[in-house]
Amino acid sequence: MSDQPRPRASLRTAVVWEVLKEALDRRVKATGRDALDVLDTGGGTGNFAVPAARLGHRVTVVDPSPNALFALERRAAEAGVADRVRGVQGDILGLFDVVERDGFDAVLCHGVLEYVDEPAEGVRNAVEALRPSGALSLLAAGLGGAVLARALAGHFTEARQALADPAGRWGEGDPVPRRFTAEQLSGLVSDAGMEIAAVHGVRVFADLVPGVLVDTEPGAVEALLKLEAAAAEQPAFHSVATQLHVLGEKRR
Ligand SMILES: C[S@@+](CC[C@H](N)C(=O)[O-])C[C@H]1O[C@@H](n2cnc3c(N)ncnc32)[C@H](O)[C@@H]1O
Repeated sequence: MSDQPRPRASLRTAVVWEVLKEALDRRVKATGRDALDVLDTGGGTGNFAVPAARLGHRVTVVDPSPNALFALERRAAEAGVADRVRGVQGDILGLFDVVERDGFDAVLCHGVLEYVDEPAEGVRNAVEALRPSGALSLLAAGLGGAVLARALAGHFTEARQALADPAGRWGEGDPVPRRFTAEQLSGLVSDAGMEIAAVHGVRVFADLVPGVLVDTEPGAVEALLKLEAAAAEQPAFHSVATQLHVLGEKRR
């Protein structure tokens, strides 16, 4: 890894990117192919699709938002990977209207299940899009992280409401329709016929630390990134993470 200071924004993506990159590298070794076929469902403006294309992979982004796909196209062009990124308007619940079954080495589903009416069907579709032994990278909002954040902001009733609500919402004004525990997310992945390769807690501390402590102290972002990476692996911290990441591997 580079010795250059990393921007604060990397706190949102670093843990997931490291896990994903390792999974892609393993798949490259296993298949003997340098360029993998990657599907990013709900890939939006390309936070993961563009870096994956920069590794040399061919990435298809399926997203219902024309604005996101437009921004993706521009971003891919700026990164010099326009020839390896394909944006397709579509929905994870109608995935096979726009992409083939069994066509991908890796499928990403990051920050999407929260907004989908039938999360189990979304995960099943993501898995059906994979080739045998392909990797599923699933990231979704964690219930416990939201409860903790509401409580630390002094919104105790909302924190209790999120804890009691089956969808993990803290009230009418909550912009997120659904949150998950690590057990729920892992259950969706194994019910869809995948082996669970790893579960990580994402943004355990980053959203709780006052920005001034991170922005003014030299080396603070790097130190916090290392702390996040260490805590991500520990099951004890899964229950308070803002997001949860599950890496699955499709059975043969
Ligand atoms: C929070 S953004 C995440 C974007 C990207 N995956 C990332 O991690 O940066 C959620 C994305 O999911 C897309 N989305 C919402 N509902 C969807 C659905 N039913 N099927 C596929 N994508 C959906 C949105 O258009 C948006 O681009």
